[in-house]
Amino acid sequence: MKLLVTGGAGFIGSNFIRYILNKYPDYQIINLDKLTYAGNLENLKDFEYHPNYKFVRGDILNSELLEHIAADCDIIVHFAAESHVDRSVLGADDFIRTNVLGTQVLLETARKLGNKRFHHISTDEVFGSLPLEDSDKAFIEETPYEPRSPYSASKAASDHLVRAYFHTYGLPITISNCSNNYGQYMFPEKMIPLFITNLLQGEKVPLYGDGKNVRDWIHVDDHCSAVDAVIHRGKIGETYVVGARCEKSNIELTKMILSCMGFGDEMIEYVKDRPGHDRRYAIKPYKIQAELGWRPQIDFDSGIRSMIDWYMNNQEWWRRIKSGDYKDYYDLWYKKR
Ligand code: NAD
Ligand code: DAU
Repeated sequence: MKLLVTGGAGFIGSNFIRYILNKYPDYQIINLDKLTYAGNLENLKDFEYHPNYKFVRGDILNSELLEHIAADCDIIVHFAAESHVDRSVLGADDFIRTNVLGTQVLLETARKLGNKRFHHISTDEVFGSLPLEDSDKAFIEETPYEPRSPYSASKAASDHLVRAYFHTYGLPITISNCSNNYGQYMFPEKMIPLFITNLLQGEKVPLYGDGKNVRDWIHVDDHCSAVDAVIHRGKIGETYVVGARCEKSNIELTKMILSCMGFGDEMIEYVKDRPGHDRRYAIKPYKIQAELGWRPQIDFDSGIRSMIDWYMNNQEWWRRIKSGDYKDYYDLWYKKR
């Protein structure tokens, strides 16, 4: 099997490529990535010379390039996106360009090449925000879309386009909408790696608002196994929501990280809230469990501990990121919002 993976130099895409090449050594992978600020070839340094792995630097909006490299692929697995909510608050242009237009160019290429199998990676944020009070409520495949940030609106638009290509042209698609990932190679603009690396630098952790917002966490390796299940056994035209049923408030999670790393509450700095901050996300992953037999394997306690160990042991990786362009973004975010 030959896969075209888009966005394979980012956090989840690189973990997915490693997962697939370890599990199916005879599969071939082309990784198409533009290498934006979030793309990093160091994420796959150990696979650089793997005979079944090839990296192509390019934009998913480049249809000529796509037609060339996707021609003999069996499936396109589409991770490439602008992925950070805060950046979408600062400016939505790149989000519309890559997440909406880029997905449409990929879909059109898949159609032109004789209706290639297409798997679209999406997010639970397309469903909007759940109340804190009704803890039994959670997203399922039938939950109506109600995106509330420029990021989630762009991902919702891309999901609709993917379904439109299925209904209109019979493109063999599947979609997965996953909850918050954590794990190795996660870019340190996102909450968990930002907090771990701040603490390793002796800095405080900036907690938004009252800290009571809830996210439903899944280890990236479990997300990869869910995508593996969907691309091999998923029903064409269907959507699968993915999560590990691990809801944590931000304050609870922050205290957990502080305690694992030997710090106290004095390292928390409450800062101004994110505009439009969604209160709670939660997923009921019953369909993927019942129909595809998928189960998450990594419990949150051990997952977080091994993530902290990874950031302690890979300081060069994140220190290089934090001392580069990232600093300008961070200063702008705190100045502008
Ligand atoms: P990331 O920001 O770490 O990586 C995105 C990758 O896409 C980068 O390597 C970047 O260079 C590449 N890219 C961006 N624009 C491109 C373009 N125009 N052409 C080619 N490559 C381009 O993102 P991530 O956290 O790994 O997320 C991957 C996917 O998973 C996204 O679609 C995101 O919406 C989805 N998702 C993420 C999470 C999460 O918790 N991080 C949860 C659910 C779904
Ligand atoms: O739910 C899936 C989504 O999860 C993905 O689609 C996105 O690509 C991914 O970035 C993530 O979005 P979030 O906005 O939930 O992740 P983030 O790490 O930015 O924030 C997690 C929570 O922590 C959120 O409630 C905001 C809060 N937060 C975040 C940052 C960066 C803080 O309190 N302080 C911070 O500095």
